[in-house]
Amino acid sequence: MIGYFGSLFLTIKYLAMSYYIIIKMLVSRNLFYILRQKSSSNNKKRSNMKQLFKLSALAIVIATTLTACSEQPTTKAATTSVTSESKALTADDALVFLTKIANEQVELNLEGNRAEWIYQNFITEDTAALSSAASQKSTEAGVAAAVAAARFDNVDVTPTQRRQLNILKQSLVIPAPQDSKKSAELAQIGAKLGSLYGKGTYTDKDGKVLSLGDMTSIMATSRDYDQLLDMWQGWREISPPMKDLYTRQTELANEGANGLGYKDLGTMWRSNYDMPADDFAKELDRLWLQVKPLYDDLHCYVRSELSKTYGEDKVALDQPIPAHLLGNMWAQSWGNIYDLVAPENADPGYDVTKQLEVHNYSEIEMVKGAEKFFTSLGFEALPQTFWERSLFTKPQDRDVICHASAWDLDAKDDIRIKMCIQRTGEEFSTIHHELGHNFYQRAYQDQPVYFQNSANDGFHEAIGDTIALSVTPKYLKEIGLIDTIPDESKDIGLLMKMALEKIAFMPFGLMVDQWRWQVFSGQITPENYNSAWWELREKYQGVAAPVARDADAFDPGAKYHVPANTPYSRYFLAHIQQFEFHRALCGISGNTDPIHRCSIYNNKDAGKALNTMLEMGSSQPWQQAYKVLTGNEQMDARAILDYFAPLQTWLKQKNEGKQCGF
Ligand code: ASP
Ligand code: SER
Ligand code: ZN
Repeated sequence: MIGYFGSLFLTIKYLAMSYYIIIKMLVSRNLFYILRQKSSSNNKKRSNMKQLFKLSALAIVIATTLTACSEQPTTKAATTSVTSESKALTADDALVFLTKIANEQVELNLEGNRAEWIYQNFITEDTAALSSAASQKSTEAGVAAAVAAARFDNVDVTPTQRRQLNILKQSLVIPAPQDSKKSAELAQIGAKLGSLYGKGTYTDKDGKVLSLGDMTSIMATSRDYDQLLDMWQGWREISPPMKDLYTRQTELANEGANGLGYKDLGTMWRSNYDMPADDFAKELDRLWLQVKPLYDDLHCYVRSELSKTYGEDKVALDQPIPAHLLGNMWAQSWGNIYDLVAPENADPGYDVTKQLEVHNYSEIEMVKGAEKFFTSLGFEALPQTFWERSLFTKPQDRDVICHASAWDLDAKDDIRIKMCIQRTGEEFSTIHHELGHNFYQRAYQDQPVYFQNSANDGFHEAIGDTIALSVTPKYLKEIGLIDTIPDESKDIGLLMKMALEKIAFMPFGLMVDQWRWQVFSGQITPENYNSAWWELREKYQGVAAPVARDADAFDPGAKYHVPANTPYSRYFLAHIQQFEFHRALCGISGNTDPIHRCSIYNNKDAGKALNTMLEMGSSQPWQQAYKVLTGNEQMDARAILDYFAPLQTWLKQKNEGKQCGF
């Protein structure tokens, strides 16, 4: 009801204002001149009637433009009116506006999510077309809402309304220019990039067609230099066709960001952290400098062990590590080469992949296991529809986007995951990661639509990972996956395995957006896309392309989040945050074990504390949510450094006399 009367009121108000604008224009003689020219041959009465009619029609057009907040003012007259009108707007207008947009968004989101779900589960020309049409529609609505929200910039609104208006102005990931041709083009490019990645395969020299999943397994387990190189190069054949699309997408999205008042898309992405965009970039640098010494120690040790395995001619001790030898297609986490670098006599005492096999855990049982962790903390079980609608295994008969993701289709209870689960320890962690998204989504579902999100995007990525940090030997014994808890003499192994996952990831988590930010700002131009990517890979990670790259190579495109346009700094943040969350939750649970042995399984107090933060959604600046759980308003790498302190001491001993650095 409020929406209906509110709109009526606004229409009348805008109608009056529109007449005022037109009269001003008439006074400035432009419009008057045009009307007079056109009516000069008609008789006076008819001409007057006609003029009045035209004026009214024009006024209605302008009024409708102003009332329908989902349409952006594009004409000069409308823009002028928006500026002169903003003084007259009030907090009540903001309420009407925000309610209207929220209602529209709920509908649009559901429609868009459904189209996207079908497309990602069944990639064809047709589903791509439907998905891009839906995404064009919601992007256009989002851009229009962002433009309309800016009308309240100088209006005295409540703090909650201000936060909601800011969220509307900032949160589009790929804003479109205000031109329907261009927004259609942008949406189509998005779907094309997604399809190129999702359908990507490599046919090896024996004619065998390999999916990314097949290649991921080989990268994880093969120790054959040439076979690894073949996989590494093969997968990167999918991305050269993406380069021109990516170049054009960058142009269009930058134009969209400009239209919303941002210098470029990168600035817009960096504006989502309750601090000035420049401060956020500095914050990342500060956190990275805290972690870098530990990364350097790990890198030095791993390089020397790899050199023992593959020979100094392949892994030189003073050079970056060849990127195909680290157990992962992107060298982003290195847990799969644990066996090559494991400290003597200090293995973790178990291997989750093997234990899953021994206990014959199915994919569904893996998901049930992860769900049980959350319910043990007091969270409600997942709804029946989750089990009916999720995708857990790779279909044999169609193309799907296999990259793991979590969905909330209706902002109520239709939550799902979509994964092509492999039965490995690594995937067991990823399942926890995805369920973390789903439990977060459900925890904030009673917030207003605008606040149905994580405190910042790092939080969303951190929750499931936080839980997975509690997948310790003690926990695995409790659920019957292992029989005995290895004693503490094995802890260096445990920490090494974890560091290969987490510490190794951090510079990668940082460099992906360092690259994109520079692409968006124009510092990196299309001719340099690939070389700049590798410069950053060397600078941050100390890894190098194992072979010279072709002139048309577009290696960033072979990493899911680039064609999918998912910002990546969130994963870097999540790695800092999850160790702070883990430490706080362990404290609440009364843990007395060393932090890397702590599991909050079954602890309702920890669950309650976690939920208090989750249910806030994005209703407060993230610093407030952070404080609720950790007691601090600033992120800090101390928790992750403390966690790995015993390993760092050990690494320093091992590295004595070695030439480190890259
Ligand atoms: N959604 C996860 C990531 O992209 C999936 C994964 O870990 O593979 O963050
Ligand atoms: N899930 C993210 C990725 O796959 C971060 O681990 O890159
Ligand atoms: Zn995620």
